[in-house]
Amino acid sequence: MPRVALVGCGNIGMAGHLPMYAKIPEAELVAVCDIVEERVNAAGKQAEVDVYTDYRRILDRKDIDMVDICVPTDLHAQIAIDAMSMGKHVLCEKPMAHTMDAADAMREAAIQNDVKLMIGQVRRFDHRYVSIKEQIDAGKVGRPVFIRRAERQFLPFPPEAWHWNPKMGGGVILDIGVHVTDLFYWYFQREAVEVYAVAKSVRESAVAADSFDHAFITCKFEGGGVGFAETSWAYPEGFGGAYYAQLDVIGTEGKIQYADKDTNPMVEFSKEKGCELPRYFRFMSTTEYAFEEEIRHFVRCIIEDEEPTGGRQYARAALEMALAAQRSAEIGRPVQLPLEREIY
Ligand SMILES: NC(=O)c1ccc[n+]([C@@H]2O[C@H](COP(=O)([O-])OP(=O)(O)OC[C@H]3O[C@@H](n4cnc5c(N)ncnc54)[C@H](O)[C@@H]3O)[C@@H](O)[C@H]2O)c1
Repeated sequence: MPRVALVGCGNIGMAGHLPMYAKIPEAELVAVCDIVEERVNAAGKQAEVDVYTDYRRILDRKDIDMVDICVPTDLHAQIAIDAMSMGKHVLCEKPMAHTMDAADAMREAAIQNDVKLMIGQVRRFDHRYVSIKEQIDAGKVGRPVFIRRAERQFLPFPPEAWHWNPKMGGGVILDIGVHVTDLFYWYFQREAVEVYAVAKSVRESAVAADSFDHAFITCKFEGGGVGFAETSWAYPEGFGGAYYAQLDVIGTEGKIQYADKDTNPMVEFSKEKGCELPRYFRFMSTTEYAFEEEIRHFVRCIIEDEEPTGGRQYARAALEMALAAQRSAEIGRPVQLPLEREIY
């Protein structure tokens, strides 16, 4: 049974990862790590496991097989590479990294050390998006030619949070855009050839950090498919939770349409906020079971010595499109793929 250490006990570590291990008997969570002592102590208490403030002490432990990385994006590569160099399998949150060089170094480390590396593009484990993928693969819409997507939300990050800082992998294009570009790549099953993005800084924190919190992203694919997405953290609180995600897949012979507002099973009314359709769970509008299934999938791949779903290529492709979108929004022009080395 793989023995696991969780590194990063912030938002997604505590909401989407740590509680899932109690539901996965195939793995054993044995340690948690965070540089903030109160956080790691609370996490250790909750899961009744060992606590560390330096991840390198975890890597020294021979009884740990897998490291689950939930730290800010610009730290993914260093911690993942250090862990893989010590023979640990790595499950790492999306986006894969904050640069293409860092992503390539991660893939190289997985190959050199003969360990498994999976990036948690969690929509791939959400039954709603899996079911749409199955419809596409079954030819229900013919050849997909146009995908329109929206992921909108309000997240209460403090102004000083890394989430606003593009150099740390923050900003809505990299953080949320990478979910969207992965969905495009997954559904079209083609390489993107060009990306164009128009983006704005709306909330005060975005303006202060010189960061985008609202973006329109267009990706052209080999064979003529086009993906168009709105990604936003700029929706007012409450509204963001109510109308989070929309998706249209238009093919040569049909169309699939999905929207949270049509499928959310719950409606809440309150004096303060009026009518609301709450999110699927407290941190975001995906389902808890998607994180549980993502982790379980990776654990099973370790046990059965299989390659994680999607292979090693998809997370890199999603990152490349998101970085191209960031670049395009900055320069105001379309960006061709593959990205040129100097603009990563
Ligand atoms: N799959 C999803 O839908 C999803 C949702 C949210 C966040 N994420 C991703 O998860 C990652 C974390 O995001 P978050 O919102 O949880 O961030 P966060 O800031 O809330 O949490 C990160 C934690 O890492 C800790 N940390 C920083 N440096 C560390 C180090 N060297 N060693 C150990 N711990 C360290 C911080 O103290 C913090 O507690 C990001 O890459 C983000 O893009 C994914």
